[in-house]
Amino acid sequence: MANAISLNNHDDEVMIDISANPAREPVAKPALLSVEEAKALDVAKMTDLFTRHLNPGQLHFMKLLGFHKVKIERAEGMYYYDQNGRKILDFFGGFGSLALGHNHPRILDARRKFQDENRQEIAIAFMSQYATALAHNLAACSPGELDMVFLGSSGSEAMEAAIKVAERAAGPKRPKIVYAENSFHGKTKGVLSITDGSLYRGEFKLVDNTVKVPFGDIDAIEMAFRTDPEIGVIVLETVQGGGGIIQADTAFWQRLRELCDKYGVLWVADEVQCGFGRTGKFYAFEHHGVVPDVTALAKSLGGGKSAMGAMIAKRDVYMKAYGTPKTAMIHAMATFGGIGEACVTSIEAMNVLYDEHLIDNSANTGDYLLSRLKELQVRYPSLLKDVRGQGMMIGIEFHDLSKTMPLVLRPVVAMLDDKLKGSLPGFIGSHLLRDHGVLVAFTEYNRNVIRLEPPLICEKRHVDDFITAFDEVMSRGIVRIVKDFVAAQVK
Ligand SMILES: Cc1ncc(COP(=O)(O)O)c(C=O)c1O
Repeated sequence: MANAISLNNHDDEVMIDISANPAREPVAKPALLSVEEAKALDVAKMTDLFTRHLNPGQLHFMKLLGFHKVKIERAEGMYYYDQNGRKILDFFGGFGSLALGHNHPRILDARRKFQDENRQEIAIAFMSQYATALAHNLAACSPGELDMVFLGSSGSEAMEAAIKVAERAAGPKRPKIVYAENSFHGKTKGVLSITDGSLYRGEFKLVDNTVKVPFGDIDAIEMAFRTDPEIGVIVLETVQGGGGIIQADTAFWQRLRELCDKYGVLWVADEVQCGFGRTGKFYAFEHHGVVPDVTALAKSLGGGKSAMGAMIAKRDVYMKAYGTPKTAMIHAMATFGGIGEACVTSIEAMNVLYDEHLIDNSANTGDYLLSRLKELQVRYPSLLKDVRGQGMMIGIEFHDLSKTMPLVLRPVVAMLDDKLKGSLPGFIGSHLLRDHGVLVAFTEYNRNVIRLEPPLICEKRHVDDFITAFDEVMSRGIVRIVKDFVAAQVK
C-alpha cells in the first residue's frame, strides 16, 4: 500500500494508511537513541550528554572524586563491574537501597515471570492483586496496629503521605509539625519543609508551621509539646542517615512514645533509609520496644530493582484521615501507586529478606564490621574520630582536617576547617575506588562522615576485603593521602 506505515500491535502486523489525509505529514521521529545505543555510550559521550542534559554542576564533584571515569556495565550481588571488567565492591549500597544486593536472582525471576505472563501494571480502575498482597505483607511485618498502607514510588512520596495522614488525623487545630536538626526526609516541597538542609532548601517558599528541635533531645521535645498546643505531629528518622549515622537511646524513644500519648501528638518514624532490616530488625524502632503512629519505607523495599515507597499507618490514624467515602480520595494512590511489577518485586524482596535470614545477617555481619573498624580507630587515632552504627548502617567520622595535620600546619589549616569539611572523606573515598575498587558513600550534613550501607547479603569476607583496603589507605598517613589526591587532580 502506498503511503502506508506498518505498526506491530503484538499479534499482527498492521498497515496504517496515512494517505487518507494528504494534508497531514506523518510525525517525523526525532534523533532518538535506541536502547542498544544507550548501553553502548562511552564515558566521553556520557559526560557530554550529562553536561548538556542532566546536571553540569554535579559532574564537577564526580570529577573531583574520579567517579566520572567509571562506566558500570553490569552489577551482581555485592559488586559492580565497570567497562574494563574491574570489580567494584559496593559498600555504598545506593544509600540503603540494595538490601538484597544487585540483581538478586529471585527478584529477576519474579519480574521475568510477571512479564512473560503479560500481567497488568496500572492499578487505577480495578483492584490490584499485587498491591493488596504487598499491603498485606507490609502489615504482617509491622508491629502493633500499623496496618494501613499507601503505596508510592519514592521515599519522598511515602513521607509526604505520612505527614499528610498524620496532619489530617491530628486535626485542623493542631497543624504544627516538629522535626529534628540535621534531618533528611526528601526533596518534594512538603517534606523539604522538615528537611534541615540549607543546601536542599535553596530559597524555596516552604510549608509553614514547623518547629525544629535538636535530634535526641527529649527535654526540648517535652518543652515544645507542653508550650505549644498547636503541635500535632513529630517526624523523626529513627537513625539519622544524612546527619552522619546518629542514633538516640532506648530511653529517648520510650519517653517520646509516652510524651506523644500524653500530649496527643502523632509520631511519624521515617524508616526510608534505616528500615527493611538494615539495622538488624525490620524497623529500627523495634530495637526500642516502641511503635510509632505512622512510618514509611522505600529504598530497599524495591528489591534493588524497582521504585517503591510505602507509608504504613495505624488503622485508627488512617481512618480518621481518610476513612469515609467522602475523604477516601483525598490522598488515594497516584498513577504509579501500586504498579504491578514494582509490587511483585517488593513482595518477592520481602520474602527473600526472611528466607535468606538477611536481617540476622545484617546484625551479625554489622557487629563484625563495627568491631574491625574499632580496631582501626585504635590504630589511626589521629585520623579516625569515631566509628558508630548498627547492622549494615555504619558511620566512620574523621577529625577535622587541621587535627590530622602535622603540628606546624595545624593553625593555618584550622582556619579552613569548616570549608574543608568533607575533603578527607572525599580523598579517602576516591583512593578506595581508584586503588582498591571499593565504593563508599558520603554524608550531607556532617561531611566528615563516610557512610557504609552495604547490601545485607554482605559476608565476613567482604568486610575483610573492605577493611584491608581501608587499612591500606589509612596507613599512607595524611600527607600522602592529600598528595595522592592532588596528584590525581593534575594528571
Ligand atoms: C530518611 C530518608 N527519608 C526520605 C528520603 C527520600 O527518599 P527518596 O530519595 O526516595 O525520595 C531519603 C532519601 O535518601 C531518606 O534517606
